[in-house]
Order: sequence, then structure tokens, then C-alpha cells
Amino acid sequence: AAAEKGGYATFMEKEIHEQPHAVGDTLLGRTDIEGRLVLDDMSITEDQLKDVDRIIIVACGTAAYAGMVAKYAIEHWTRIPVEVSLAHEFRYSDPIASERTLVVSISQSGETMDTLMAVKHARELGALTLSICNTHGSTIPRESDAVLYTHAGPEIAVASTKAFLAQITACYVLGLYLAQLRGGTFADDAQSVMKELHEIPAKLEELLGRMDRVKEIARFMADTRSVLFLGRNVGYPVAMEGALKLKELAYIHAEGFAAGELKHGPIALIDAGQPVFIVVPGPGTPHELHKKVVSNIQEIRARGARTIVVAEDGDEDVVPFADEVIRVPATSPLLAPLLTVVPLQVFALHLSSAKGLDVDQPRNLAKSVTVE
Ligand code: G6P
Repeated sequence: AAAEKGGYATFMEKEIHEQPHAVGDTLLGRTDIEGRLVLDDMSITEDQLKDVDRIIIVACGTAAYAGMVAKYAIEHWTRIPVEVSLAHEFRYSDPIASERTLVVSISQSGETMDTLMAVKHARELGALTLSICNTHGSTIPRESDAVLYTHAGPEIAVASTKAFLAQITACYVLGLYLAQLRGGTFADDAQSVMKELHEIPAKLEELLGRMDRVKEIARFMADTRSVLFLGRNVGYPVAMEGALKLKELAYIHAEGFAAGELKHGPIALIDAGQPVFIVVPGPGTPHELHKKVVSNIQEIRARGARTIVVAEDGDEDVVPFADEVIRVPATSPLLAPLLTVVPLQVFALHLSSAKGLDVDQPRNLAKSVTVE
């Protein structure tokens, strides 16, 4: 078993370290000689895709957070409205879809019953169905019109890590593909985003080499009973994923919030010593979101929170208000989740092992839930 874990103590740790490859391999072979993006199995025609006027992403758990990241990117690049629906909520909500609706399911296993039922229902409604999946020949891709495989390799740990990064990567590829196909104002920029995406694996490698302080923070926090996570824009689903990891692995009460929502309620939770992770948008993010989040950090710090800030290299604005700064390499704002989520994964893993818990097999959870 030790050999299977490649020298790591747990499958999860091994899989976290496989993330540069998960992203790189998912990007592999996605561009043809003319520089155009390609998908896998397609019984959806280019004309059908050109006519799509609405996208609904269906997924559960971590995969649904990948979908939330995708919404921001795909809408920005294609101007097609994107909704994200938890698969079990979609199926029984009397959803609206037509032959111009593209229902994108995201699933590591390809066997999640809730997601499968949503896909089947979408087909009944006449929608086009595309599966983003990590498992060749599994049920969901077989029940879909088209598939875009993620190449994360088998994921053994119950808590998803490398599959999440691969799912986000595949969603970016899909978004850029649609942008090119439809030739909108963004079509010309698609190649430069692809270039930046190809730089992510090396940045991940570098980031994974600087996790010592995160591990230390996790060990110091073994007795913590509640942790909050804040993020904004694509950092918002990252905050929720950070909270989910902590619930799953360390059985700690954790919640992710949109940073802008803080003043509308959650700020009441802040008292002395409350640990809060803040995923800070890069200084280059439009609409001054960086500045707005920095002022959120200042607000909660003034109320006694212990602020653990995930910020880009070189972002000095956060320093005066941070108890801890965790640095991630810079990238363009929409791609940042591929980097900012990593310290949150590492934190949850090490807090779980500091508590002596079973990292790979948390209580009450299954890797793939094949019942509704
Ligand atoms: C289970 C797992 C989660 C996973 C979710 C969706 O609940 O414990 O880690 O995110 O299923 O799984 P899927 O295979 O569809 O991505």
C-alpha cells in the first residue's frame, strides 16, 4: 500500500501533488494544428453549439464548485448565460430547457446517481448534454451526447483534489472553445488565455513547494472548532470548496461566504480569535475587487478575527491586515482558482491528520454516491 501511495502518507497527499499533471494532461491535445480547440466524443455538431443560448451546469459536491468557477469564466468569454444547479435540485425543480440549452454535467466518477438522473432528465427535455468526466466508459458520459474527459488519473481519496483542478481546466477549455466557435469579441483572446493555462502546471509545482507554513498553521489549529472562508468572484466557490474540505476531512464547522455578503449577516459571527481565510483576488482584477476584499480583511481584523490571507506574490496591500499571508503565483484573475484552492486543500489535509483522523476515508462519506 505504501508503494501505491508513491511515498506519501496518504492518497490525498499524493493526489494533491499530482495536480500539476492533472491540469497539464487535461490540456494535452486540446489544440489542433490551426490552433483551434478540440473536444472528445461529439455527436453534437458545431452548428448546434453555435446556436446554444443557455448553459446549465449540473453536478454535486466539489464538482459543483468547479461548475461555479466555470460560470464566471464561460459567461465572460462567450456571453452565453450559465446557470449552475446542484444535480439533485435540478432534476426535481421542473427545469426549463430546450434544444438550444447545453446541459454540462461535471463528475469525477461518472457514476453519481443524482448527476446521472439530471442528465437523463435534460435529454428528455430535448437539451444537448455534454459530460465532463474523469472516468472512461462510465455511465454519465455514455448517457450524454458528448464528452470532454479530464485526465487527472484515478482519484482514490474520498475528498476530491486533482479531479477538481482538472474539472476547472476542462471547463476553461470548453468556454474558450465556445468563444472561438462563436467568434464573439473574445475569440481572438482565447489563444492568449490558453497560453496562460499552459503555464499553470509549472506554477502549481512551485506552489506545492512552499506549503510548509500552511502545514504548520494547520497543526497549530488542531483544536479549532470553527473556520470561515471568504472569497469573491471566482474566489467565492474556492472559499466554499475550502470549507467543504474542512468539513469532510476534519469534521470542523466551516462555512464559505461571498466577501461582499459579509456585511449582510456573517460579520456577526466574527469575534476575538475567529479564524478566517480570505481568498484575495489579484490586484489586476476588474472593478476594484482587490481593494474591496482588502477592506473586508481590515473590517474583520478590527473585530478580532485571526486573518489567514491567500494572496498573489507581490500583493503588499494585504500585509498590514494579515495574521498570516499565504502566497500564490500570479495569473490572470479568472484562472486563479487553480492556484488559490491548493493551500486550502493542504490545510484541511494537515488539520485532519493533526487530529489523528483518517484522511483518505472520512467517516460517513463515499467516493461515489450511487443512490439518489
Ligand atoms: C461524493 C464525494 C465528493 C464528490 C461528489 C461528486 O459526495 O464524496 O467528493 O465531489 O460525490 O462526485 P463525482 O464523482 O460526481 O464528481
